Amino acid sequence: MATLSLPSKPLLRALVGETLMRPPWWLMRQAGRYLPEYRAVRATAGDFVTLCLTPDLAAEVTLQPVRRFGMDAAILFSDILLVPRALGQKLSFENDGPKLEPVSSVADLGPIDVAMLAPVGEAVRRVCRELPEQTALIGFAGAPWTVATYMVEGGTSRDFHKTKRLAYGDPARFGALIEQITTVTFDFLKLQIEAGVEVVQLFDSWAGALSPEGFDRWVIEPTKRLVAALRERFPGLPIIGFPRGAGLLYPRYARETGVDAVGLDTSVPADIGREHLQRQVTVQGNFDPVLLLVGGDPMRRTVNVLRRTLGNGPYIFNLGHGVLPETPPEHVAALAKLLNEPLNA
Ligand code: CP3
Repeated sequence: MATLSLPSKPLLRALVGETLMRPPWWLMRQAGRYLPEYRAVRATAGDFVTLCLTPDLAAEVTLQPVRRFGMDAAILFSDILLVPRALGQKLSFENDGPKLEPVSSVADLGPIDVAMLAPVGEAVRRVCRELPEQTALIGFAGAPWTVATYMVEGGTSRDFHKTKRLAYGDPARFGALIEQITTVTFDFLKLQIEAGVEVVQLFDSWAGALSPEGFDRWVIEPTKRLVAALRERFPGLPIIGFPRGAGLLYPRYARETGVDAVGLDTSVPADIGREHLQRQVTVQGNFDPVLLLVGGDPMRRTVNVLRRTLGNGPYIFNLGHGVLPETPPEHVAALAKLLNEPLNA
């Protein structure tokens, strides 16, 4: 028999729709190069994939920002591109970003090796042992569309022409690739959830690259299927969707995918989030990462505007995209001081 119990961690309370006096917060890319202690661990690991797949090191860098700043959540240190690697695609990280051997169909992929992801579960278990009682642990994966762009382009892209040509020109072939990505993404999330993550976020960083019809077919549809599969297997597990660049399609995404919360990118006006999203889902975001880099009064003013606009409904403070590597850690400390105080104090 199911027992009804309300969560006590602030992040989880916001995700079941509660409005908190002090909105919980965390930052995308909160673990990373702006922290000297991250750079030190990164140097001992050598390459980035080794860091992701060495449980002690991945757990350590996951905990670093929480120790320093007391966020309401840790996000597992890992990467969305471990999924293509488990699908048999070669992956390396160079100075200008990730490099993959480009593919255009399932036939181009090597044998699937989900076991390769097992160290990620071990990292989760180690984080759980050390996390403060009120801090939630977020797991994540890339949404299928965004992962597909890296696989087809072979890395980061400006215009995604190769991927879009494949998606629009040969939807059956592209659909089979999306299907395969979705299957392994489910396995990747399942492994994280079974090891102890309490929330998952789906990063669709390049959702904004598609036409409205393409968005329906390649962003909303695969996300909806993934959300349904997770709901069936893990009822009650909160899911945050982050369709970066979705613009006017945000409400449609919120309505149709079945996520509990949506992450807004920096371009979405907070009052639009309040009027068109917050009645339906918890809203997360969308402080400009450059304001965190700048710090001082511009940062404080905008934090207050955001909290006044979105703080009267279910809200999680976050950035509109990841922390920039040049960000001074003192600015994050100043932000933490603001956000760790109640709204009306
Ligand atoms: O948020 C966190 O602190 C958790 C860790 C995390 C990383 N990547 C670590 C990382 C998360 C949630 C991600 C997600 C991710 N990875 C996304 C979606 C979010 C986004 O930024 O849009 C994407 C597109 C990737 C793929 C990826 N990984 C790229 C394009 C790059 C290179 C760009 C860069 O910032 O250097 C990475 C490498 C990466 N992933 C780093 C970190 C901390 C930097 C690697 C380093 O230390 O050299």
